[in-house]
Amino acid sequence: MAGGGAHIITVGNEKGGSGKSTTALHLAVYLLHQGYCVATIDVDSRQQTLTRYIRNRRASAEAGGRAVPMPKHVHLPTAWGDSIAENQRVELDIFTRAMTQLRSTVDFIVIDTPGFDGNLARLAHGAADSLITPINDSMIDLDVLARIDPRTGQPLEASPYSRNVHKARAEKQQRTGTGIDWVLVRNRISNLGSHNAARVQNLVESLAQGLDCRVAEGIAERVIFRSLFLTGMTVFDPLEADILGAAPSMSHVNARHEYRALVAALQLPDSRQLPLSA
Ligand SMILES: Nc1ncnc2c1ncn2[C@@H]1O[C@H](COP(=O)(O)OP(=O)(O)O)[C@@H](O)[C@H]1O
Ligand SMILES: [Mg+2]
Repeated sequence: MAGGGAHIITVGNEKGGSGKSTTALHLAVYLLHQGYCVATIDVDSRQQTLTRYIRNRRASAEAGGRAVPMPKHVHLPTAWGDSIAENQRVELDIFTRAMTQLRSTVDFIVIDTPGFDGNLARLAHGAADSLITPINDSMIDLDVLARIDPRTGQPLEASPYSRNVHKARAEKQQRTGTGIDWVLVRNRISNLGSHNAARVQNLVESLAQGLDCRVAEGIAERVIFRSLFLTGMTVFDPLEADILGAAPSMSHVNARHEYRALVAALQLPDSRQLPLSA
């Protein structure tokens, strides 16, 4: 880890609804259950999904009178003044303060970002040791990564988002000597092994080569994610009906297995390298 301190995982892409906030909480809770000290940062002021998710989690724990591991959560608001330069200065200031404070007190910082470009989102990408980009499982959603030739289905050029990631990666490499490990994950994969799903997988693999990133095993489409959000729980929490707000099912077990595979694909540093959990 560059300069010691927490390992930073940013969850990002410039599309709403691809599963960023869900993935951010799942990663954070997985790491908490592993015994790590974890902070979460929400820089999506418009949706604040991660902040609401964590609020639901706290409410469920209190209602059930049980101990549920919680991350140290911070929401960093967008600055809305008249001057863009001043807004950027304020945002850089709050971001830097939060990171400086958390870096030395936790093992992992998981940052959730909005589905659009913005100053705080760029700062979050620029700080990432690991960047995870969930993509909805359709040809249309791949345009967040590259412009695709509609006739041949082949990638033509990197998208503005991919170019931003490459820029953040080059700047971080120069600043700290380590780059950004970028991992794509297909999310909400249809359970039916359709022709389109296979086509998307092939295209994601070839896009990843061109973009110098890796592809993790995907996460299937499952209705349980709705009740998980309302209770603030994840597939890593105990599979008990009164916690989940729904009867546990094979679907939970399978989803847990898939998210575990995703964490493994991230190749996060293990406890021996982390300052607080050795
Ligand atoms: N694997 C999944 N299966 C079914 N629904 C999912 C899955 N992942 C996320 N969702 C749902 O999709 C919606 C958008 O997810 P969210 O994590 O808020 O995306 P983002 O943060 O990228 O906007 C939410 O309603 C969430 O519950
Ligand atoms: Mg979100």
